[in-house]
Amino acid sequence: MWGTTDTPTPGRGEVLIDVAATAVNRADLLQRQGHYPPPAGTSEVLGLECSGVISALGPGVHHWTIGQQVCALLAGGGYAEKVAVPATQVLPVPDGVDLHVAASLPEVASTVWSNMVDRSGLQHGQTALIHGGAGGIGSHAIQVAKALGARVAVTAGSADKLARCRELGADIAINYREEDFVARVQAETAAGADVILDNMGAKYLSRNIAALAPDGWLAIIGMQGGVTAELNLGQLMAKRGRITATGLRARPEAGAGGKAAIVTAVLENVWPMISDGRVLPVVHAEVPIAEAAQAHRLLDSGEVVGKVILRVQ
Ligand SMILES: NC(=O)c1ccc[n+]([C@@H]2O[C@H](COP(=O)([O-])OP(=O)(O)OC[C@H]3O[C@@H](n4cnc5c(N)ncnc54)[C@H](OP(=O)(O)O)[C@@H]3O)[C@@H](O)[C@H]2O)c1
Repeated sequence: MWGTTDTPTPGRGEVLIDVAATAVNRADLLQRQGHYPPPAGTSEVLGLECSGVISALGPGVHHWTIGQQVCALLAGGGYAEKVAVPATQVLPVPDGVDLHVAASLPEVASTVWSNMVDRSGLQHGQTALIHGGAGGIGSHAIQVAKALGARVAVTAGSADKLARCRELGADIAINYREEDFVARVQAETAAGADVILDNMGAKYLSRNIAALAPDGWLAIIGMQGGVTAELNLGQLMAKRGRITATGLRARPEAGAGGKAAIVTAVLENVWPMISDGRVLPVVHAEVPIAEAAQAHRLLDSGEVVGKVILRVQ
C-alpha cells in the first residue's frame, strides 16, 4: 500500500538521499508477508538499498556534499522518495555505472565481500562453491571470486541459468535438479570447496560439509531450505571446518563487523573491481516502483537472473 509520510530529517551523522532507485531483495518479499520484521528503531518501509542524490546533511557529516550521486546500504526505507541513512553506509556511484543501476549494488557487494572474502578468506587459487549462482547474490559473487583468482563452482536449477553463470565466469556449473553437487565438486577438485557461500541453510548443511575442503569455511547467508538441521560434528571435525551464519540487516552501524566497516571494505576492494569492469552489475529488469508488486512476483517466479531495480525518480 502506498502512502504519504513526513520527509525524514537526517540526524547526527546521517545524510538525506533523494531516491532515484531501489532494488528488490528476497528479504523484501518476506517482510511484505510479515515474516521478517525490520530491526527495532528502523523504518517500516521496505527497501534495503538505494541510489540517488544527497539533498541534506545531518550535523557532523563532512565527507559528503549536497548534490553528490550516491548509493547506500539501508536497514529499510528504500521504497520511498527520500531516505535518511548513516553517512558511513553511503558509497559513491562506481565509475561507469548508471545512477539507477547503482541501486542494485550495496546489498550484494556488502553481503558477498563480508561473508565470502572478509570472513571466509577466499583467496587466489582456492575453490569457491556458490549456491544459487544466478541469483542477485550469486551473480555478483561469481565475478568477485573470479576477480580474486579463485576457481568457481555454482549451482542453479536450469541450463539457461547455468549458461549465464558460465558467462559471468563460473568454471564448474552444476544443475542441482539433475546431479549431486557434492559428487561433482569432489570429482572436479582435489580436495573440495575451500569456501561455500550458501543460500539454502538446513537443506544443504550436511551436503555442504561433505563438499568442503579440509580447513574449509561454510558461510551461510540464506535459509531458503529451512532453519533447522542436524549437524554431524564428527563430519565437521574431520574437515576441520568452520561454519558461520550471518545477516547484514541487523548488524550495528559501528564497531568490528558493523555496517560501516563492511561498506568501507566494499569501497576499497569491490568498487575498483566494478570501475575497471572485472565485476559488472547484473540487472534482470528495471521497472517503475509503482509496479513493485509485479517485481516481487517476478523475483518469486524463479525467472530472474541478477537483480530487479525499482525506479523511483
Ligand atoms: N545474510 C545476509 O546478510 C543476506 C543478504 C542478502 C541476501 N541474503 C539471502 O541470500 C539468498 C540469496 O539472495 P539473492 O538476493 O541472490 O536472492 P535471489 O536473487 O532470489 O536468488 C535466490 C536463488 O536461489 C536459488 N535456489 C533456489 N533453490 C535452490 C537450490 N535448491 N539450490 C541452489 N540454489 C537454489 C535460485 O536459483 P534457481 O532458480 O536456479 O533455483 C535463485 O537464483 C536469499 O536467501 C537471501 O535472503 C542474505
